[in-house]
Amino acid sequence: MSHDHAGSPRPLSARPVRGLSGRVRPPGDKSISHRSMILGLLSVGETVVSGLLEGDDVLRTADACRALGARIVRTGEGAWTISGVGIGGLRSPDAVLDFGNAGTGSRLMMGVVGGHDVTASFDGDASLRKRPMRRILDPLMLMGAEVVSQAEGGRCPITIKGAAEPNPIEYRTPVASAQIKSAVLLAALNAPGETTVIEAEASRDHTEKMLAYFGASLTVTPEGAHGRRIVLKGRPELSPRPIMVPVDPSSAAFPLVAALVVPGSEIVIEGMMMNPLRIGLLTTLREMGADIVELDRRIEGGEEVADLRVRASTLKGVDVPAARAPSMIDEYPVLAVAAAFAEGETRMRGLQELRVKESDRLQAVADGLAANGVDHAIDGDDLIVRGGAGTVRGGGTVATHLDHRIAMSFLVMGCASSKPVTVDDDRMIATSFPSFSPLMTGLGADFA
Ligand code: S3P
Repeated sequence: MSHDHAGSPRPLSARPVRGLSGRVRPPGDKSISHRSMILGLLSVGETVVSGLLEGDDVLRTADACRALGARIVRTGEGAWTISGVGIGGLRSPDAVLDFGNAGTGSRLMMGVVGGHDVTASFDGDASLRKRPMRRILDPLMLMGAEVVSQAEGGRCPITIKGAAEPNPIEYRTPVASAQIKSAVLLAALNAPGETTVIEAEASRDHTEKMLAYFGASLTVTPEGAHGRRIVLKGRPELSPRPIMVPVDPSSAAFPLVAALVVPGSEIVIEGMMMNPLRIGLLTTLREMGADIVELDRRIEGGEEVADLRVRASTLKGVDVPAARAPSMIDEYPVLAVAAAFAEGETRMRGLQELRVKESDRLQAVADGLAANGVDHAIDGDDLIVRGGAGTVRGGGTVATHLDHRIAMSFLVMGCASSKPVTVDDDRMIATSFPSFSPLMTGLGADFA
């Protein structure tokens, strides 16, 4: 079991460069990759996936699906076949399911286990052991699952005995979280009746879209100003469907922001997923004055995608409303870097959820900004950054706290700051973006 990552931390520095250029295709979407494995497990027959993100997080989910009964084979780069056991067909794993750094994988699988007549234990690294799981356990217990054991405060290691016949429930998610919503929907697949999930702010909808694609009967209707009501009929027969995983906008965000802040840059990002619940960062960057042009909007694998031409831009500070947070929840660290290079003040509102990501991201971002001479403040749940082109000193070493997005964000900063920026450990980048360094250096970044 890897409660900590093997070996010692591996620091990496980014030195300032001029003019990133080239065309890149960032890796497949992490959210869709996790769900591909899970829906493959829950269908009978072969699910064929292309463009899968082969990051550590997704590979942990694949291992967990194997332990629950699926046969999973890699047939080529990003090409995987999952032979599933179907809803109701899972077996209890022999060993603890070790999710490493993966919050999404562990939470979604808790939903699967919670709705089945199996018992499984969940654990992970030091980061995962700090993350709150009560938000998942609470609805699962309402559905009849039993929490056999848990660490202090509803944390991993956790053992769940699932409900053989889960109760269909109506559940309002306490925070806008696709992970909570998805855990309930996945448990509800085995419930005899209709389960309703209501969210006050719409979160990413990949679970709903993929379940419908696999043949589940589910309706989604608006709820209030920004929310949704999802009703799922339990015990469908899921049929395997081919999945083409589109490019992860949360990974594309790093070369995208790098090209905006490194003077003289012009790059093209190919095939970025344009799902409206995922592209709050694009909206925000455009408000800041970013020169981003969509070259070819099209449908790929059931999602809208586009090639984006990104040019270095003079950015200005903006006020980012809290209501936008669910559509860019993973992008605030790199937005804070963009804001450091933008004239004036950027206020990012309502960031309380950042405190429970792979690290306390609000604090980790603030500390990284401080280490590199960027004027900023935390005001309640808001982050304020006062920036300007040419004002980012750099020269700092950033503590990444096992958080891939903190590492990548500050390496982007180092591409355009006056002095190099160092991150204390780059190993976690492999959880979501194993090709980050070669992709960035291929565009002209200087990492060492
Ligand atoms: C994810 C949902 C988000 C996000 C995470 C992936 C998902 O978490 O931060 O990286 O795939 O459902 P929350 O839904 O808990 O905000």
